[in-house]
Amino acid sequence: MKILSIETSCDETAISILEAEGGLQTPTFNILGNALISQVDIHKEYGGVYPNMARREHARNLVPVLLSTLKQTFNTLETGPELGGEIKEKLADIFIKEPELLVFFMKDIATLKRPQIDHIAVTAGPGLEPALWVGILFAQALGLIWDLPIFPINHMEGHIYSPLYHLQSKLAFPALSLLVSGGHTELVYIKDFGDYKIIGRTRDDAVGEAFDKVARLLNLPYPGGPRISALAELHRSKGLKPSFEFPRPMINSGDFDFSYSGLKTSVLYKLKGVEITEDLQEETSHAFEDAAVGVLISKTTRALDEYDAKTLIVAGGVSQNTYLRSELEKLATTRDGLTLLLPEISLTTDNAVMIAITAYIRILKGDTGTRERIRANGNLSLDA
Ligand code: KG4
Ligand code: ZN
Repeated sequence: MKILSIETSCDETAISILEAEGGLQTPTFNILGNALISQVDIHKEYGGVYPNMARREHARNLVPVLLSTLKQTFNTLETGPELGGEIKEKLADIFIKEPELLVFFMKDIATLKRPQIDHIAVTAGPGLEPALWVGILFAQALGLIWDLPIFPINHMEGHIYSPLYHLQSKLAFPALSLLVSGGHTELVYIKDFGDYKIIGRTRDDAVGEAFDKVARLLNLPYPGGPRISALAELHRSKGLKPSFEFPRPMINSGDFDFSYSGLKTSVLYKLKGVEITEDLQEETSHAFEDAAVGVLISKTTRALDEYDAKTLIVAGGVSQNTYLRSELEKLATTRDGLTLLLPEISLTTDNAVMIAITAYIRILKGDTGTRERIRANGNLSLDA
């Protein structure tokens, strides 16, 4: 079946069409169309993402991104019959607060012949609510003109299943998942598909946020994660060790919670009044990454000690980090019977493919979607 999915929870406008087949044991996926417009360059200027600015950009990008995904999938797009007056009225109602998007939609999408799509999925949370709304409205408008229900999907569940794209074997439960992104740092115990318990989370900043904030302190551009990682690797590759260490917050707290704001503050103090040279950027990145990743590894190790898990899934933007990946691989080799699953690099950061994968799992579990209004929930939790 073909699932069209929409992701607008933060600063990427992403739409994919995924061909999904097989049962829950070994589902197989093939990306037919996948387009994304990143707002990173816009948010770079401000050093972060502002919800209303993100919303406006999504509203501008959704139609071109959908057209690009449809063209990749179906090659040519044919014009269809004109929509009835009642549907037009409902569309005007859906987009009442997005007049610009209504115009784009009526001109370029409402005029198309209905494509061969079986299901529509959209991220419903967590994320920036104004950004989520616009994606949800867009999904509902498509559901209306193509007569399809919508599957509202949890973005974090999407990250969890992102490694399934290339997984050849069965996903063995119970599993533990370390979710590391710009907005989240969570350890999740997964009994089965859809059955989650958050066993630890950050009490303040997310680990990706700490990477981004420390990058700013080092005069490196947003998003800082990849820059810090590259500089730390460079420093390591020279065989150098940092001459200072940063504290590893909550490493001995006895639970699975994290805290990253104190680590950022330690970096701030270290750099106060000091000239930021290239050498200092490299050394600080190395010391910071050691501390940030060290805590992730330590807590994950303890969670594996305490919870029986056959699979360790590590996902989210920070799972791209080379040092984290190598430390996780070391950890996995010490555990008999544990499979480490990481998404391929292109699926680590926010994308629509993971939303379609999750929708497929829901469908296999018997979910039939909804034709009711969907609410954006910026704080949607995995175990609510
Ligand atoms: O999952 P994601 O794309 O968006 C959220 O849902 O937050 O994650 C983005 C985060 C950013 O904070 C970014 O700096 C971080 O992932 N990131 C990295 C790396 N690549 C991206 N952090 C550390 N090392 C990296 N290589
Ligand atoms: Zn994310």
